[in-house]
Amino acid sequence: PLKVTKVLCIGAGYVGGPTCAVIALKCPHITVTIADINKARIDAWNSLDFNLPIYEPGLEDVVRQCRGRNLFFSTDVVKGIKEADLIFVSVNTPTKKSGVGAGFAADLNYVELATRQIAEVATTSKIVVEKSTVPCRTAESMRTILEANSKPNCRFDILSNPEFLAEGTAISDLFNPDRVLIGSLQTTEGKDACASLAAIYANWVPKENILTVGLWSSELSKLAANAMLAQRISSVNALSAICEATGANIDEVAHAVGYDSRMGPKFLKASVGFGGSCFQKDILNLVYLSESLHLPEVASYWRQVVEMNEYQKRRFSKRVVDTLFNTITGKQITVLGFAFKADTGDTRESAAITLIRDFLSERAFVNVYDPKVEESQIWYDLAEACPTMTLDNIKKQVKIHKSALEASKNAEAVVIATEWKEFKEIDWAEVYKHMKKPAFVFDGRLLVDADALSKIGFKVATIGRPSI
Ligand code: NAD
Ligand code: UDX
Repeated sequence: PLKVTKVLCIGAGYVGGPTCAVIALKCPHITVTIADINKARIDAWNSLDFNLPIYEPGLEDVVRQCRGRNLFFSTDVVKGIKEADLIFVSVNTPTKKSGVGAGFAADLNYVELATRQIAEVATTSKIVVEKSTVPCRTAESMRTILEANSKPNCRFDILSNPEFLAEGTAISDLFNPDRVLIGSLQTTEGKDACASLAAIYANWVPKENILTVGLWSSELSKLAANAMLAQRISSVNALSAICEATGANIDEVAHAVGYDSRMGPKFLKASVGFGGSCFQKDILNLVYLSESLHLPEVASYWRQVVEMNEYQKRRFSKRVVDTLFNTITGKQITVLGFAFKADTGDTRESAAITLIRDFLSERAFVNVYDPKVEESQIWYDLAEACPTMTLDNIKKQVKIHKSALEASKNAEAVVIATEWKEFKEIDWAEVYKHMKKPAFVFDGRLLVDADALSKIGFKVATIGRPSI
């Protein structure tokens, strides 16, 4: 098998950036270039003060060690393709907004454009690796495009190597992955290409954690893993509704269930609903795939996971309105957290956006604080979520603050939407002093100590527990 010395990654986003930076760190003998058509993003990756375009604990340290040594960020995709032996395609694959499969299918336009550019530019053979999450059998389309457009003496081997990192823990997930999955055709050439990629990971990942499978299994495993993880959250969230109605406590139920070694304790935290760029998109992708394969029962089974998530968000907004004496019109509501989970500045599909949209439609005033999300991103997301409102009107109803305390002044209720650790450590007695009374806390993340807060005087409503 070919010993890879030059790697290109097309797409410098949440996945391409951290994964290939870690490859550069762990493989000093390999030159890694991460290329993107978005110049602002590349400039940020190259910024002298390391003001990187994404926030991930530990990422800056990795980039500081390798940038300029064997890690380069560039907008010159063409040069990158020409020089590389192995190319990761790590571009975005969002849900289609229009056309066939709108609202469900993955938009493969970016993958196709990157593939066509590889075929057009390459003058030597390449291993092309699907890093993006794609529907099952996309590698087949990539191969057809590459073979139909390649120059003589250029061969392309296609691998699937889906990424399992979670945002907020990307660097530790990459340093210590549960597994690396590589799918290839089961031909001699396919297996050789697979061995070349496995050899890169073998620089830091134990061999038994590098799984090699067929191409289609690899592609489907990624969708399956995300669907089953999200299904666990929707299951626990469905149970949280029963807990609120009966007096059972979802934390105790999840703990008891997760103690079963067949189940395991992780990923059983009830919440205001899962967010992030992957879960919903990948499940809808699976739903679309099932429907295309004439498997409507399978499609509706998975669709229910997303529907339960929408229900959970709606149910939480309604609980806020119901508890605040059935009206929040003209009231000040504080939303703590805007990111889709802690330790990231990413807001894609964040539950906070849906909650704020619901509060705005009740004509409440909303005060937002998040430790990492940029102000411009909050305005962008709210404008997109509230198409019937102008940005000026949104800005009349929403204020963005610099601290949790400042955001809660004169509020009737504080809503915890993201599980940032600092919200646990707020001086809640001080927050209470400055709020209107009765002062309410709605904990959508099982984050704060409800008993301690109610001793201060708060009325507390926690997801999966009756109100106190
Ligand atoms: P992203 O939007 O952050 O990054 C994608 C980048 O690709 C963008 O910067 C875009 O400008 C660039 N791009 C698009 N077309 C290009 C082209 N032709 N040439 C050069 N650059 C191009 O997306 P992401 O979050 O990094 O996700 C990438 C893929 O990885 C998706 O398929 C996603 O489903 C998958 N994934 C994401 C995560 C996650 O946690 N975000 C985890 C696992 C897998
Ligand atoms: C997910 C997968 O975990 C990862 O393997 C895949 O590569 C990309 O998609 P990510 O979306 O970054 O990662 O974060 P994750 O930790 O999975 O959280 C997703 C959402 O679920 C967040 O909104 C999180 O707050 C929520 N969540 C997670 C819960 O509500 N309860 C839980 O127990 C776990």
